[in-house]
Amino acid sequence: MSSTNHQLLSPIEAIVGEAGILTGKALAGRSAGIWSGRQLKALALVRPRTTAEVSAVMKLCHAVGQAVVPAGGMTGLAGGHKSTASDIVMSSERMNRIETMDARSRTMVVGAGVILQTVHDRAAEDGLMFALDLGARASCTIGGNIATNAGGVRVLRYGMMREQVLGLEAVLADGTVVSSMFDVLKNNTGYDLRQMFLGSEGTLGIVTRAVLRLHEAPLAIETALLAVPSWDKVMELLRYFDAALPGALAAFEVMWRDHYELNTGPHSAVDAPLEPSTPYYILMDMFISDHEQGRAKLEALLTTALEQGEIADGALANSETERARFWQIRENFEPEQNCYDLIYGYDVSLPLEAMEDYVESVRTNLSQGFSDAALMAYGHIGDGNLHFSIYPGAARDREAVDELVYYPLQALRGSVSAEHGIGLEKKAYLGYTRSAAEIELMRKTKRMMDPGNILNPGKLFDI
Ligand code: LAC
Ligand code: ZN
Repeated sequence: MSSTNHQLLSPIEAIVGEAGILTGKALAGRSAGIWSGRQLKALALVRPRTTAEVSAVMKLCHAVGQAVVPAGGMTGLAGGHKSTASDIVMSSERMNRIETMDARSRTMVVGAGVILQTVHDRAAEDGLMFALDLGARASCTIGGNIATNAGGVRVLRYGMMREQVLGLEAVLADGTVVSSMFDVLKNNTGYDLRQMFLGSEGTLGIVTRAVLRLHEAPLAIETALLAVPSWDKVMELLRYFDAALPGALAAFEVMWRDHYELNTGPHSAVDAPLEPSTPYYILMDMFISDHEQGRAKLEALLTTALEQGEIADGALANSETERARFWQIRENFEPEQNCYDLIYGYDVSLPLEAMEDYVESVRTNLSQGFSDAALMAYGHIGDGNLHFSIYPGAARDREAVDELVYYPLQALRGSVSAEHGIGLEKKAYLGYTRSAAEIELMRKTKRMMDPGNILNPGKLFDI
C-alpha cells in the first residue's frame, strides 16, 4: 500500500471520530465473515454514523483512488464483502438505527446497518411483518440485503429484497449523495435509480438508508414437514397446496435426504420427526387467517395426499417450539461443520423440471472426480433456488467443483447465482448466465458511475 493512502487515515479519523476507525492491532479478532473463518484484512475499518460521514470519507478516497469495500453482516456466500490489506472496509455497523416506524403507511425507515431480525421485531410490535426472511437473519444487515438483493424463504409469496424497498439513499464513488427516499408504492418518474443499487453488490454506491415496505403479519402460521417419494410429487405438491389455499403458501423448502439425514442424525441436536427413508422432504409454511379452520383444512389436505400416495408421511407442527425445530432441520449448518472441516456453499437456480436430473448428475460427477467428496442438497425450491453444501474431499479443488456445478446450468438456462450475488467467487461464471451484451452494459454502467474503480473493485466483473 502506498504511503499516500496511509496519510488518509487521520483525515478520515477527523470525520468519523476515534471510535469510527480501526487499524492495525485494533482489527485483531474482527472476523472476515461467517463463511471465511479468517480475520478481516483492511488498511482500516471505517465505521461512519451518517450518510454525511460516508460522503465525506468517499470524497477523500476518491481524490486518491483508494479502494473501498462496503461491509454489512458478511453472511453472503459469494465473497462480495471480501477485502485485502490495502482496502478501506466501510462498515455500516454504527448506522444501525431505526429512524421511523409508521404503522399506518406500513413503512419503516432504517439505517443500512440495522440487523434484519431487529426490523422483524420492530414490525411485529405493531402487528406488521417485514417479508424478507432468511437463515442469517440474526446477523445480516439491511444494507447487505439491498446490495445482494437477498432472497430467502418468503420469496415465493412476497418477492426478493427488490420488492421490499420503497426508497433508499446511497453515496456514489465521488461522495455525491443520491437520496431516493420515497415511501409510496408507485413512482413512475423515469429510470428506477433505486433498483440500480439493489443487487449491484456495492460496486455502484454505498447504501446508507432505506425505506422498507411492511406487510400485515399473518394471523396464524402452520408449518408442515412432508416426506415425499419422488421429484414429480414434489412438483405436484407445490401446485396442490398453492391451489388449495390460494395465497397462503409462504415457504416451500425442499431438503434432499442427504441434508435431512445429516441435520437429524447424531451430529444434530434435533431428532428426526419423520423417518429418513424418502428421497425428498418438504418444509412448508402456510400463512392463514384463521388458525382452527386453516389447520383443519391443512390436515384434510395432508390426509388426502397421504391416501393418494403423494406423500409417504407428514407432520404438522403443534407449537412454536416444534415449528422452530422443523426449521432448524432446514437452516442449521452446525451438523455440517461438525462433520466436515471444509464446505463449499452453492446457490443456483434452474427450472424445477430439470432439477432432479441436474442434482443427480452433479452428485455422480462429483463422486467420480473425488471419491471422498460429499454433497448435501436443499433450498428454496418454490423459487427454483437450489443450494449445495459440498465437502470437496482431500483434493480441495475449488475450480473443478465449481465447474461441475455451474457448467450444466448454461444448457438448462439456469442461473449461477439465485440470491447471493456474484461477488468474487462467481466472477468467472457470470458469462454462463448473462450474455456478452449484458455484461458489457453492466461494465459501461460501472465505468460511468465509478470511473476510478474504487467501489468494491474486482467484484462482479473486472472492468
Ligand atoms: C440458506 C442460505 C445458504 O438458504 O442462503 O440457508
Ligand atoms: Zn438460501
